[in-house]
Amino acid sequence: MIVYINGQFVEQEKAQISVWDIGLLRGYGGFEFLRTYHGKLFHLQDHMQRLQKTLDTLEIAYCVSCSSMQNIIEALLEKNRFQDAFIKILVTGGASQNHTTPLSFSSPTVIVMTYPPYPFDPASYTKGVSAITYPAVRELNEIKSLNYTIATMARKKALEKNAAEAIYIDQNGFLYEGAFSNVFFCKNDQIITAEEKILQGITRNIVLDLAHSLYKIEKRRLHQKELVDVKEAFITSTSQKIVPLSGINQMQLSAPGPITTHLMQLFSSYIDQTVKKVGC
Ligand SMILES: Cc1ncc(COP(=O)(O)O)c(C=O)c1O
Repeated sequence: MIVYINGQFVEQEKAQISVWDIGLLRGYGGFEFLRTYHGKLFHLQDHMQRLQKTLDTLEIAYCVSCSSMQNIIEALLEKNRFQDAFIKILVTGGASQNHTTPLSFSSPTVIVMTYPPYPFDPASYTKGVSAITYPAVRELNEIKSLNYTIATMARKKALEKNAAEAIYIDQNGFLYEGAFSNVFFCKNDQIITAEEKILQGITRNIVLDLAHSLYKIEKRRLHQKELVDVKEAFITSTSQKIVPLSGINQMQLSAPGPITTHLMQLFSSYIDQTVKKVGC
């Protein structure tokens, strides 16, 4: 598989970063995860804007236009002969000398990888998946930092409990987002999703746009005490789109509920319409 690293396309076995890279030593850097549908990049511009926000927050000087990144990704898709792919753009702080700060904030390591989309169990969409709550709030929660330590631990705990996702809950009992997804709760015709202290997911934003004229939307965190009134819930992410939740901890939910089903249909049509348009 060919990857892009610091301006060059190389076989993945030949791609090298320094052992002094601050991304490796300290998880200092940002990334984006995006995908294609029917060979077309999906919402690249939104991903690039979010990457820029991440890098600005981390004060890593890397600026690439949406069209240059599109060229890099399309070249990778062609070289790897992928029709559809998942794509990762990683930008680390680059080499360090003292283990704690990059040598320079303007010599980042830049990697772009493409790989075949991994398959998800179709039953996730027809029967839902369960989630647990996990006591943590993501550090630098509004950016996509390379550091997914908490998320990795949360996912491990979820898998141990035969759940697919872990939803962060703070010490006051408020729910925010999943370790790898955003979360939506539905009560009657009302949809509730956290607005702050979360990653503003690209999928989440599309779902909010699709839902805004159809349902009452409250952008706020949900308290765990409110879960008793929740009739259905779902998670959203680039890799899995919209996935119904069949339960949270011991609580069972109807999956997929009517709102989730409706939004899954709308999202699917939206993908078909969007891929007809080309470019950033
Ligand atoms: C913490 C977190 N929240 C939300 C999301 C969903 O974001 P997106 O829809 O942009 O994939 C992700 C995706 O990886 C995530 O890691």
